Amino acid sequence: MTDSKAAPKAGLEGVAVADSAIGKIDGSVGELRYCGYLIKDLAEQSDFVETSALLWDGELPNESELESLRNEMKAARALTPLQLDLVRRLAGEQQPMDCLRTVVSACATGNDVLTADPVINRERSIDLTAKLPTIVAAYDRVRKGLPVVEPRDDLDHASNFLYMLTGSVPDAHEARMFDTCLVLHAEHGFNASTFSARVTAATLSDIYSAITSAIGTLRGPLHGGANTAVMNMLLDIGSVDAVESYVDALLQRGEKIMGFGHRVYKVVDPRALILKQFASELAQSKGEPKWFEMSQAIENLIKARKGLDMNVDFYSASTYHYMGIDADLFTCVFAMSRVAGWTAHVLEQYSNNRLIRPRSNWVGPDARDYVPLGSRR
Ligand code: ACO
Repeated sequence: MTDSKAAPKAGLEGVAVADSAIGKIDGSVGELRYCGYLIKDLAEQSDFVETSALLWDGELPNESELESLRNEMKAARALTPLQLDLVRRLAGEQQPMDCLRTVVSACATGNDVLTADPVINRERSIDLTAKLPTIVAAYDRVRKGLPVVEPRDDLDHASNFLYMLTGSVPDAHEARMFDTCLVLHAEHGFNASTFSARVTAATLSDIYSAITSAIGTLRGPLHGGANTAVMNMLLDIGSVDAVESYVDALLQRGEKIMGFGHRVYKVVDPRALILKQFASELAQSKGEPKWFEMSQAIENLIKARKGLDMNVDFYSASTYHYMGIDADLFTCVFAMSRVAGWTAHVLEQYSNNRLIRPRSNWVGPDARDYVPLGSRR
């Protein structure tokens, strides 16, 4: 289609570009469902591996399907020598999301990388979802000068990540909480990073390119990068007493407060409520209530001053901090979860593909004749 005048939809707000049966959001009542199941039910009763199966296949797996998926994921956790070597080379020089983006890109190998075959791409989805935690944990160990911890296949997905990150098997309750965080972040409809993945897949490019695009898009502070920005803000504020003056100064300068507002939710995001409970519980169990209390004070202030609700990134910051995860890894942790949703969307895009190619309104100069260099002023 040629570029011509029509009312633009800034930010594509409210524009539906495809049919999808993966994540459904009703922002007016704060409801999120994966393939029809309420996020609250999945958070309470499912786990990340089972939820990933649901997203990829559209149905909850039966017992033997789930068992074999758990085994496939465990078998795919270890990095290849090339992938580990890349992590080692990049860890000292690059930010975590830069390293993750590069190593995921390097996961593409072989001559058949471009295939849209659903069976092969489901296997690749499993492989990527299994490997992202290993990349993130190895990155953090290498940059801290610690030995890389190999994955352990007697540990579940969440426990294994925390084990590879810290070198110690985590407390079972905390690992379950972390697994639920992964469930909460796994899918969210046509958000910016998922849309990036689908745009890339829609050219019939490969799944690795699509996920690399998605990681680059997630990283921005208006999207998944907000969780790191929230933690940096909490660290910067430092105490509950300093919250009001700090936040008011930001608002007076017209700056956005990270972790608040949402394109789709007009009431509070259901995931944020669950994360707030986790942060509250961890504040007690760790005997360090400050980060939760500061977060609560900010939440109340932003509601009073701007009428804005918190989003999923707000309490995930203090939750991950209480779990001992460094602030600059938070967006990688988001990617470790959302990769399940991204890959589900890539599979869906390939199954009914149409090139995604919007148009723009021309606002540049009218047609004009080329001016030779010597005649220019
Ligand atoms: N702090 C202060 N004001 C805000 C905030 C905020 N966090 N969010 C929105 N507003 C204000 C805007 O300034 C704007 O006000 P105006 O109409 O007076 O200019 C109004 O609310 C609408 O905001 P937009 O940015 O136009 O809304 P949009 O739907 O484009 O953006 C977004 C949604 C990007 C999430 C926005 O709320 C934001 O920037 N929030 C902070 C970053 C953040 O937390 N991102 C994570 C989102 S969740 C996720 O991606 C996983």
